[in-house]
Parts: sequence; C-alpha cells; structure tokens
Amino acid sequence: MSKPTLLVPVILAAGQGTRMNSLHPKVLQSLAGNPLINYVLDTAYQLDGLGPVIVLGHGADEILDKLNPPIPYVLQEPQLGTGHALQKGLSIINNSQVRVLVLYGDVPLIRLETLQQLIAIGPTNGLSILTATLADPTGYGRVLRDNNDKVVGIVEERDANEIQRALHEVNTGIMVAPYVKWMNWLSNIKCDNDQGEFYLTDCIALAAKDGVPISTHRCHDVSETMGVNNREQLAAAECALRNRRATKLMNAGVTLCNPEFIEIRGDIKVGKDVVIDAGVVLEGSIQLGDGVRIGPFCSLRNCTLGSGVEILSHTSIDGANVDENSKVGPFARIRPGTDLSCETNVGNFVEVKNTKVGPKSKINHLSYVGDACLGSQVNIGAGTITCNYDGINKNKTLIEDGAFIGSNTALVAPLRVGKNATIGAGSVITHDAPDQKLTLGRARQSTVNKWQRPKKDTE
Ligand code: UD1
Ligand code: CA
Repeated sequence: MSKPTLLVPVILAAGQGTRMNSLHPKVLQSLAGNPLINYVLDTAYQLDGLGPVIVLGHGADEILDKLNPPIPYVLQEPQLGTGHALQKGLSIINNSQVRVLVLYGDVPLIRLETLQQLIAIGPTNGLSILTATLADPTGYGRVLRDNNDKVVGIVEERDANEIQRALHEVNTGIMVAPYVKWMNWLSNIKCDNDQGEFYLTDCIALAAKDGVPISTHRCHDVSETMGVNNREQLAAAECALRNRRATKLMNAGVTLCNPEFIEIRGDIKVGKDVVIDAGVVLEGSIQLGDGVRIGPFCSLRNCTLGSGVEILSHTSIDGANVDENSKVGPFARIRPGTDLSCETNVGNFVEVKNTKVGPKSKINHLSYVGDACLGSQVNIGAGTITCNYDGINKNKTLIEDGAFIGSNTALVAPLRVGKNATIGAGSVITHDAPDQKLTLGRARQSTVNKWQRPKKDTE
C-alpha cells in the first residue's frame, strides 16, 4: 500500500455545549467578535492538503447557516462519543489515500505551526498525538507510557486510577493518522467506559498493539489547546487571544499603554512608533501609519490613518480614511465614506459622514457635516450643520477652498459655497453663495428704542 500523504482535517463539533447555558450552539459563541468555529476552520484551511470536513450535531442548522463558505459536513445523531464522531467524519472523506487530522470546534487557538510540526514529526503511516504537560491536568485524558517511554494508551480522567491521574502529560485531543488505520481502530473500539461512549482515545491502545509507530509532539503554549466549554473558559480564551494579538502588535513596534485593556478584533497593519492608549477597540481592517497616536477609549473600524495622525480620546472612526498629520477628537464621530486629507482638524462633538475634507481644513466644534465636499483650508464654525436630508433625498454640499462658515450656520443642501466665500454666523443658507463675498441669511439685528420692560402692577 502506498503511504498516505494528503491531509484531511476533521473538525468535531457535534457536542451540545450545555455548560454555556446558551440558546445557541457552543461553536457559535463569539470569541473576539468571531464565532468559535471560524478560528479552527481558518487554521484548517491554511494546512496543505484537502480542505476540512466538519461533524455537526447539536444546533447543526444554525451552524450551517453561519458557515461561509459552506464546507462538507456530516451529521452525527445521536452523539455517541468522539470515536463515533470521527467515524462519521471518515464516512464522508471515504478516501484510503489520505491522513486524517482530528481537530475540535471548541479548541479555537491552536496554531498553524503547531499542527504543521505535529504532522511532520512521525512517519506518514504512523499515529501522532499532540500532548501537553499541565500543572493541573484535571479533566483531561492522560497519556500512558511504558518503561521505554513508548505511548501505550490514553485513559480518560473518569476512568483512570490514582496513579494514572497523577500523570501530568495530557491528551490535547489533536491527532493525525492514516484514514485506513482510523477506520480499522474505530471499528474495534467499545463503549465499556464510565460514560458509555465510543472514545476516540481508545484507538491509541489499539495502535500500540498493532505496532504502529506512535509519536507525540508537546505543545508548550497552553492557550493553544485550551477547550472552551463554559463562559469562564470563553473569557480565558478571549484574554489569551488578546495577549497574543497585543504581543504581535508590540513586536511590530506599537506601544500599548495598557496591553490588557485593548480589544483587537481585526487585521491591523502598523507603521513604526504607533502609540495606542487604554480602552481602544480595533475592528476589521485597519492601517496605522508611522507615529500614529490613538488616545484612550477610541473605537476604530475599517480605517486607514496616515503617518502622524492623532486621534484624541473617545473618538469613533468607522470606514474612513485620515491622511497624514490630521487631528481628530476628542469625542468625534467619523462615519463611513469620510476622507480627511492631510493636516485637517476635526474637533469635539463633530460628526462627519460621507464627506471629503480638503487639506488643512478645520471643523473644530459641535458640527454635523454629511454628504459634503470641502476644499482646502476651509473653516467650519462651531454649530454648523449641513442639512443634507430633505426627508426623501440626500443632497450634496460643496464648499470650495478657503471658505469660512460662521458659527451656527445651517447649509441647506444642495448647495455650493464658493471660493473664499464667507458666511455670516447664524445664517440659514438655501442658495449658492458666491466666491469671495460675504453672504448672510439671517434677520437683521434691530433695536426697539421705545421698548420698556414690563413692570409689576403697584397698588
Ligand atoms: C476529549 C478527550 C480527552 C482530551 C480532551 C481534550 C475523548 C474521549 N477524550 O475529552 O482525552 O484530554 O478531549 O480537550 O476523546 N464531540 C462530538 N460528538 C460526540 C462527542 C463529542 O462531535 O459524540 C465533539 C465535541 O463537540 C467537542 C469534542 O468532540 O468538540 C470533544 O468532546 P468532549 O466531550 O468535550 O471531550 P472531552 O471530555 O473534553
Ligand atoms: Ca472538551
């Protein structure tokens, strides 16, 4: 028989996850904004070989609904144990030329490199097991070895005797062996254990008996093999993932003022000397140029910030681009479709949506600018509103280079404010304002000379 070389990962995910106390299946619980199952899927797809297959049971419909792209799956009903689950998985692989890697939907943080090492350690016709040595091995299956240190089996904790329980080397559950071997072993396992289930781990003793070479690879980072069975473990996984991502950012040259108080939920590309303060949430695809500074409690999503950009505290940026040396915040809200050119200033309590702002323009206080296009060196006074919505349509406001909009102006779109035009404070502007001129749209100030304050009637 030729040696199997192609690899197929099987992801076991049929369990109920009772301890989550949730209306949803366990593998759909969110870890850093992403369903648990997506982590192991992403990793499995990156392995050389055929794509993964998945074993589903509890909540299968809901899981299938969320899987994107759809992947080959098999239903395990009822769930008779991990051995039974793998047997189901093999039934859709149906290929005696492959090696089968067992993965788990609720072990999300396993690293690609660790799996690659595991796959590489043993002969392709042997069995390789990923193990870990834990200070507290409670709950895990223990790896049994003979006097020559050869693996002879795995015993589940609930079936183990006192001596076996004292062992610290545990089964992570992740293993690889040829399809044909799994088929053979799984047809020979029994359910004569404490749980009355078909244990995948019983295959190990059978492999040892067959004289199949068994190799182990020890995983030193405990976060990689931690299972997520309850919300406490979910929080622990979240923490481990955060640490991992924070470390990666720091190694890339970012100063994190408080690495434990930051959320990194996306794909972040960074330049040198970026500084990120406490309480910042980063989501989606983000690019930060050299020297970018992000103040405390900011939320950034799908955005690009050029070098030297400073985001002051409590600012939200979503779907926007901010060019070099601009300053935004504190308390600013930059919404999708916004493009701030270099050296712009957007200050406190300013909302900008779907707007292009030219170089060196300023919107410093308390304004709403939406569906607009601002030239360079425009100054928008405090309290300016682009009235872009007439209840049916969104209309555009065009403000040309050097325009100065006085405070508390309502710009009723569609509208064009010309080059170097000035708009008097408190105006309601409903028609285009010409270049260079002062335009006002407000009642004239008047003084009523004969007016007197009312007086109280005297008796
Ligand atoms: C399993 C291992 C144990 C190992 C531990 C590592 C067995 C018998 N034990 O124990 O040696 O130390 O993982 O975390 O394999 N599943 C199904 N169908 C089933 C049963 C389970 O798909 O019928 C799936 C679950 O959804 C889960 C995974 O298999 O993703 C593991 O099952 P679980 O019952 O959690 O096994 P453990 O008791 O943790
Ligand atoms: Ca488990």
